[in-house]
Amino acid sequence: MRVTIFGGTGLLGKALVREWKSDQVAALGSKDADIRDPQQVLKAVTQTRPDWIVLAAAYTDVDGCETNRDLAFAVNSEGAVNVARAAKEAQAKLLLVSTDYVFDGLSTTPYEIDHTRAPRSVYGQSKAAAEEQLIKILPDCCIARTSWLFGVGGKCFPDTILKLAASRAEIDVVDDQRGCPTHALDLARAIVQLCHNNAKGIVHVTNSGDCTWFEFAQEIVAQAGSPCLVKPTTSDKFVRRAPRPQYSVLSGKSLNHYRISMPAWKDALREYLADRSSSR
Ligand SMILES: NC(=O)c1ccc[n+]([C@@H]2O[C@H](COP(=O)([O-])OP(=O)(O)OC[C@H]3O[C@@H](n4cnc5c(N)ncnc54)[C@H](OP(=O)(O)O)[C@@H]3O)[C@@H](O)[C@H]2O)c1
Repeated sequence: MRVTIFGGTGLLGKALVREWKSDQVAALGSKDADIRDPQQVLKAVTQTRPDWIVLAAAYTDVDGCETNRDLAFAVNSEGAVNVARAAKEAQAKLLLVSTDYVFDGLSTTPYEIDHTRAPRSVYGQSKAAAEEQLIKILPDCCIARTSWLFGVGGKCFPDTILKLAASRAEIDVVDDQRGCPTHALDLARAIVQLCHNNAKGIVHVTNSGDCTWFEFAQEIVAQAGSPCLVKPTTSDKFVRRAPRPQYSVLSGKSLNHYRISMPAWKDALREYLADRSSSR
């Protein structure tokens, strides 16, 4: 099987390249093909002749999207449409990586795949628009929503906490936003399986279990053996441009259909920390 990854230079893209040993993989960054340009996308797809396209490319700066709305939509929505049209023309299957930000963040129980999209940030709106348009262009495409991605090879929350913990005696972390941390390597492994299983429709792919950012930070510091004290605080102390969901736990039920089980986030964190120290 041939696979083309758009976003192959990003956090998830690098993990996909590491994990995707069984097939022939072409990993493309924005210099190889800017997904805003339909001609570049078509050329890349024609040259790589994929059976599957994984669309992990996105403008992922959530706060940046608030002030660069046009760029957010150009990359995350129109770019995704360009990739879907090229996939259709080449008769390739498509998996779009999407996000918990398509929801309103007001639920108190895990979001199921058919919960209404109601994004509150520009980033979420641009990704939700991509989902809606891709389903129209390629009704059999797969949309894998994930959340709170971390891993080596990119900026991520555990790395930020460990760097802060190295220079501070205590750090304040918000305790009023709950979600599911997801190790990029586990997500990559699940995506490989989804493609091998000809997955269609929406699936939620996160590590199992959920926590607040404070609980996540506490566990990071504990597993790393740092003496830094993590203290709970509230979101109003950390005002950001884009609204953050209070609750974005994604239900894992949709993965059962493919018999894919995701490791618990604390185990995933352990693997990340080992990976981080061996890659330094
Ligand atoms: N990070 C999270 O917490 C999170 C949570 C939920 C969902 N997601 C989704 O997961 C996916 C992967 O996220 P990530 O964290 O791995 O992203 P990332 O590290 O920010 O990487 C973004 C990737 O997109 C590429 N890209 C950006 N603009 C592009 C353009 N105009 N044309 C072509 N490629 C472009 C980048 O290429 P270059 O580096 O070569 O420019 C890079 O490979 C995204 O779809 C994101 O929406 C992420």
